[in-house]
Amino acid sequence: MNKNKLILISDINRPLIEKVFLTTENLYTFKNKTAVFLFFEPSTRTKISFELACHKLGVNIVHFNSQTSSLAKGESLVETLRNIEAMAPDLLIIRHGNELDIQDLYKLNIPIISAGSGGLSHPTQALLDLFTLKQAGLIDKNKKLLLLGDVSLNRLAKSHQVLLKDWGFKMAYSCPEKCDDPSLEGIEYFKQRSEALAWADIVMVLRLQQERKNFSSEFIKDYKINYQLTLDEVNKANLKKQEPLKVMHPGPYVEGLDLDKKVTDYKGSLIYDQVKNSVLVRTAIIQSLLKED
Ligand code: CP
Repeated sequence: MNKNKLILISDINRPLIEKVFLTTENLYTFKNKTAVFLFFEPSTRTKISFELACHKLGVNIVHFNSQTSSLAKGESLVETLRNIEAMAPDLLIIRHGNELDIQDLYKLNIPIISAGSGGLSHPTQALLDLFTLKQAGLIDKNKKLLLLGDVSLNRLAKSHQVLLKDWGFKMAYSCPEKCDDPSLEGIEYFKQRSEALAWADIVMVLRLQQERKNFSSEFIKDYKINYQLTLDEVNKANLKKQEPLKVMHPGPYVEGLDLDKKVTDYKGSLIYDQVKNSVLVRTAIIQSLLKED
């Protein structure tokens, strides 16, 4: 990985990903290391799966609490990180918003794993999604993968635009407006959800990022009607397919806004496989970063 960092998806390449996946399948115990967890945004899946991964490896955990830290006395976040670096833990696992410039993370002389960086990247989620696709036998088959929902503000979408394209998936996205983000160049846009679902072999549903933007009630009402993935829409799309549509969602989903709960129990859903694989893949990533060759 690029200088012991996994912050952007471009920090990892195909041979290293193959190595992480091989490690995922051959994990062993690993001791006397300490990871500091810094979570500045809420999390269930990422935080708990990283904790479980550390427990599996015997890695000690120290939790940073921003409210009881010296940030509350006016110390800057960058200075806080420099102080933690000076204490020489073995690893930082950090989830942060747009208040932190990721270049400041690259300057720290310590292994770091992003657990979600603002609207920019979510590399470990992207890797565990790729592992889930591999496990489902969907790799190297020119499968068509649709990103459905709030692509423009979504950090995972940014990671997948790089990673899945690189791994040979044909990509498209569907959301209310075509985005002019250069990273979406070469990725097909569908205004109509039904056309997009008819095109796709796999749909990855994305949550509306209401914590990053205020959407009008009119927009939300329209979004629910036109971009929520319902079981009816899945069944309709399946009428013309040879293989049932596969459904993914990184979570958390908002019931009735981006996803209909019934879809989670649908036979083509990989949603809980993603969650199950989160512990395995994150364990492998930590091991890959801490292991001295
Ligand atoms: N997928 C994901 O990042 O979920 P959490 O926000 O619950 O960690």
